[in-house]
Amino acid sequence: MPFSTLETARLDLRPFVPGDAEAVHAYRRDPEVMRFAGGSDRSLEDTRRTIEEYRRCQRRYGFSKWAVLMKGTGELVGDSGLLPMNDVPEFELGYRLAKRFWSRGFATECGQAWLRAAFARLNLRHVFAHCDERHEASIRVMRKLGMAFDRRARIGGIDCSVYRIDGGNGRRAAWTSSGTRVRS
Ligand SMILES: CC(C)(COP(=O)(O)OP(=O)(O)OC[C@H]1O[C@@H](n2cnc3c(N)ncnc32)[C@H](O)[C@@H]1OP(=O)(O)O)[C@@H](O)C(=O)NCCC(=O)NCCS
Repeated sequence: MPFSTLETARLDLRPFVPGDAEAVHAYRRDPEVMRFAGGSDRSLEDTRRTIEEYRRCQRRYGFSKWAVLMKGTGELVGDSGLLPMNDVPEFELGYRLAKRFWSRGFATECGQAWLRAAFARLNLRHVFAHCDERHEASIRVMRKLGMAFDRRARIGGIDCSVYRIDGGNGRRAAWTSSGTRVRS
């Protein structure tokens, strides 16, 4: 079933709008934030194109990478969500946060919300995630989310670890029963 927002204990998630571009560019131009992504966005135009891709995905599937906002203040924490994989007809979880929000459990909190939505609402059978195999913080997040190592792969010229979690086969109820509120 489609939904238009996700809410966790500390965060609100919603689809991106064009007006988010400057706030997103503020972290996507940071080389440290983009260290494992093959380079930061040079211009605001690069970031606008990324947001347009997210919005195209939203129109096509009803979900995408979304803006993650701090509850109460509305500050943009980063982005998190599900995007189609390039090589197989599956979806993968992604997360990228502005540096000042790292190490507070936010990527894991968003990831949990997306996995619940993926399995309880969207009826996906698996969710994948990948990162540069040297990216220990991201690997730690995938493991904390209950994902298991699936394979190594060369993606965008980078040696990556691909992780996977299965949610189907009667396990839907386990994902339905807690934590995240969704608004249709
Ligand atoms: C990767 C990223 C999303 C993690 O977000 P976060 O909100 O800090 O993640 P969490 O706090 O939920 O969990 C991070 C875990 O990694 C651990 N960690 C952080 N840096 C680490 C490092 N250099 N080596 C090993 N573990 C590390 C933390 O201790 C924590 O584990 P713990 O809860 O067991 O202590 C964030 O650092 C980020 O946005 N990085 C830039 C963008 C990016 O690389 N995105 C992923 C692309 S695949």
